[in-house]
Amino acid sequence: MDFFTAIAMRRSTRIFTPEQIKDEDLTLILKAGQAAPVGHSDFAGVRITALQNPDILKAWDQHCTAASGNPNYHMFYQAPTLIFVAAKPKADGQPVYVADVACIMENMHLAATALGLGSVYLWAMVNRVPLTEELLHTLQLPPEFKPVSVLAVGHPKLPVSARTLAELKPDRIAATILK
Ligand SMILES: Cc1cc2nc3c(=O)[nH]c(=O)nc-3n(C[C@H](O)[C@H](O)[C@H](O)COP(=O)(O)O)c2cc1C
Repeated sequence: MDFFTAIAMRRSTRIFTPEQIKDEDLTLILKAGQAAPVGHSDFAGVRITALQNPDILKAWDQHCTAASGNPNYHMFYQAPTLIFVAAKPKADGQPVYVADVACIMENMHLAATALGLGSVYLWAMVNRVPLTEELLHTLQLPPEFKPVSVLAVGHPKLPVSARTLAELKPDRIAATILK
């Protein structure tokens, strides 16, 4: 898929089929994440962890659903693949690590779109939900790393309709050109 088509076609998918994504697609999505820019080139300060183990996914789903208080709310929409992006908060207190994670996340979100997959950027499940040590341990992160965002990826249940950049609402995000 052409670059600008992928940008225009990207949207949040929240209904997935149970079918797992292909290993080669996961590899490409991870590569796209690894290509992202990182502040001060602190590549060692961020980490990507793809989770496809059904038992561990179920544990996360059950924990997040219980925390939400709504038995019908599945915070990652039961996607078959979760890609956690974790970072080490900086000693100087600057929140640049959140921006680093966002760059990695968007690269992967677009890569998933380009591959015809559905995906959604998730913040709540690792920031609004109190996470247990046991759940965090499933990510096998080195000490000091905290999961900052998660990309849920899978096959969209509903076909994703084509969209071009020209079809996007011009005022979706205010943009001004000053000359
Ligand atoms: C930083 C960030 C955090 C988000 N967190 C969540 C989330 O926790 N749960 C969710 O369902 N969607 C989440 N989203 C997806 C947004 O709701 C979605 O991108 C927005 O509604 C625009 O829709 P679109 O992605 O289809 O263009 C998040 C998106 C971003 C960029």
